[in-house]
Amino acid sequence: MEAGRRAVGGWHWYGMALAGLVVLAGCGRGEIKPQAADLQRAETLRPMDAQLARKYERSCLICHGNQASQAPLAGFAPAWEARLEKGMPLLLTHVRDGLNAMPARGYCNDCSDQEFTRLIAFMSGGEQGGAR
Ligand code: HEC
Repeated sequence: MEAGRRAVGGWHWYGMALAGLVVLAGCGRGEIKPQAADLQRAETLRPMDAQLARKYERSCLICHGNQASQAPLAGFAPAWEARLEKGMPLLLTHVRDGLNAMPARGYCNDCSDQEFTRLIAFMSGGEQGGAR
């Protein structure tokens, strides 16, 4: 009985150590969790171009400004690093066709390919945005 309890305790510490390693490994790959300030910034960040900002507000923002949606957060570079490595043509294809929980055209049916490209650049931090 006594030995059994000790063994359980041992597994508990082993599990904690393992969890710590997973967190460290996650950070190593650039999977840094956004903090409250990043979430707040994502809610207020808009493309500088007013027309593009309107389209952004009624489509991408719903998910990309909201961490609960699992979408890469707008303006939060660590969430975009690995995605940008795929290259803009593939990202554009994923926006047009959808990808898992990302709906085709991201709820923007009147967005052109050029606007999608600019929206991707904006959200991933390449095109300058402004807070409102
Ligand atoms: C209904 C929620 C939702 C909306 C609206 C939405 N997205 Fe997404 N988006 C997601 C989710 C979730 C992912 C992550 C998909 C995955 O990797 O499994 C994603 C991923 C992406 C990616 C990365 C694709 C890749 O290959 O890694 C891009 C680019 C993107 N969205 C652009 C946009 C743009 C531009 C808009 C607006 C026109 C938009 N999204 C609207 C939910 C959304």
